[in-house]
Amino acid sequence: MSTTETLAAPSRIVAFPGDGVGGEVMTAALGVLDAVAEKFGRRFQVEDRQIGGAAIDAYGTPLRREDLEAARAADAVLLGAVGGPKWDDPHASMRPEQGLLRIRKGLGLFANLRPVAVSPALSAASPIKAEIVAGTDMLVVRELTGGIYFGRPSRQWRDRRGRAAVDTLRYREHEIARVTRLAFELAQGRRNKVTSVDKANVLSSSRLWRTMVSEIGCEYPTVELEHVLVDAMAMHLVRQPTRFDVVLTENMFGDILTDEASVLGGSIGLLPSASLGAPHANGRRPGLYEPIHGSAPDIAGLGRANPVGMILSVALALRYSLWLDREAMAVEQAVVDTLAAGMRTADLIGVGGPVSTEVIGDAIVRRILS
Ligand code: IPM
Ligand code: MG
Repeated sequence: MSTTETLAAPSRIVAFPGDGVGGEVMTAALGVLDAVAEKFGRRFQVEDRQIGGAAIDAYGTPLRREDLEAARAADAVLLGAVGGPKWDDPHASMRPEQGLLRIRKGLGLFANLRPVAVSPALSAASPIKAEIVAGTDMLVVRELTGGIYFGRPSRQWRDRRGRAAVDTLRYREHEIARVTRLAFELAQGRRNKVTSVDKANVLSSSRLWRTMVSEIGCEYPTVELEHVLVDAMAMHLVRQPTRFDVVLTENMFGDILTDEASVLGGSIGLLPSASLGAPHANGRRPGLYEPIHGSAPDIAGLGRANPVGMILSVALALRYSLWLDREAMAVEQAVVDTLAAGMRTADLIGVGGPVSTEVIGDAIVRRILS
């Protein structure tokens, strides 16, 4: 056998920088991936592809079928951000966000994991009092391929009574069951607590959600379960964030609550996410990794974006799709140490003034290599 045959095949990664600051944060994140390859002797084969507004401009569609297929064939998918004012016309037939929804649905990524942890170095950066946010460590598990984002009908029309619109919030049993089981399993590896969020006092879909989460909860007797209404949850998140471990939500509630939770740690720019599908028979698990921030068109191209959310998303890709836990921890530690050393992008305002996307990215790379 030749030497090349004995080397493990490279992991195949598809990178979709997308729009706005997506390209800048992706460049920083791929630099981190290179550092991991060098430090740990791994091989990653990265292929760049277009999604969102960039794909509309290049190909006239927010996600081409061949790009979806490439994502399906990859070991992990990285995504920057989609959207921007250029494509915001409410009458446009195509929107960048459709690319994101299409890839989530197309890859069957039913669970979106959004960890929100407040590092001690940053508890003072939060707009919420440091003593309230210190010690926050929760994992939001958001259902990602059902609910009002995908329900049909979804349309606008005009009739003799004027203009009207409808969206549909529909959930099927199996959609609730699979994300709920994952939330309980994840809680078992953490602090054994699940908080399920719904609006069961008003919505039928939430009543089914609550019933099923309670039923499935019985299969996990060591995990404590509580149900919280979404409006109350919005309040608890800022009053007592340390009370939560795993937070389970349907699609839209999770979208809204994670933007709220993101301020606990000082900036939405810090937060990563992993969107996971069911593992295949060969053990491979479809996964898409993206920061939870958007395309931030106001600062795009200025080198001011915080790449940490994207870099930590690479760490999640290493952990959940490539099964490289040691490498994932090295990236996370490098981020913690870099922030603890006082380095900050403009969203966090650092000691001695803000540094650029590139400077903080390079600092994280140096710590990985050291
Ligand atoms: C997110 C974003 C997306 C969502 C948009 C861009 C479609 O807000 O990932 O949180 O609503 O899911
Ligand atoms: Mg969102």
